[in-house]
Amino acid sequence: MKLFIDTANVEEIREISTWGVLSGVTTNPSLIAKEGRAFEEVLKEIVTLVDGPISAEVMGDTAPEMIKEGEALARLHKNIVIKIPMTAEGLKAVSVLSQKNIKTNVTLVFSANQALLASRAGASFVSPFVGRMDDIGNPGIDLIGDIANIFELHGIDTEIIAASIRHTAHVMDSALAGANIATIPYKVFKGMLNHPLTDKGIEKFKADWSNR
Ligand code: E4P
Repeated sequence: MKLFIDTANVEEIREISTWGVLSGVTTNPSLIAKEGRAFEEVLKEIVTLVDGPISAEVMGDTAPEMIKEGEALARLHKNIVIKIPMTAEGLKAVSVLSQKNIKTNVTLVFSANQALLASRAGASFVSPFVGRMDDIGNPGIDLIGDIANIFELHGIDTEIIAASIRHTAHVMDSALAGANIATIPYKVFKGMLNHPLTDKGIEKFKADWSNR
């Protein structure tokens, strides 16, 4: 499973990219709004930090609006992936953009049927939201497993991005359930790194070394 970072904060991306573990970045309108900076300016900086798919979301409601926005975003850099919400208009836009060889990530996916529709429309990625499913009492990881099984059974090559990751167990469980990618918030990356026994072990090795 590849690891993306789910943020629009360039300092967070810069820091985690130095670990050598990042294959891509996802942003969304809420994350961009939190930064208080121009959308395009943020994207242009992100593409210099990570050489992999960078998802940028369109805001239009109709397919023609989404296609126009998507084409403009795609022109910014070859790694930009157009993030499109899971609606009928969104599917139309995905279909047109994929015929133009523009990559898409269908977002706000909450059922296996939605993922199937997105893949058949030509989506390069689908983003099932694990945490938001958990929030309504349905295990989000089960959704990842269902989509992974369906894609495997039917030879679908759309990649599954486990999104709305809230804690470290979500990452491990997404990997076990067959996600191709997990898009992980900065804080969760930090949580994956740390273990009290690692710190304790380092202290002990240092103490033993200095007492030799
Ligand atoms: C996915 O691409 C979204 O940006 C994100 O994972 C949503 O997460 P949230 O439910 O924590 O807002």
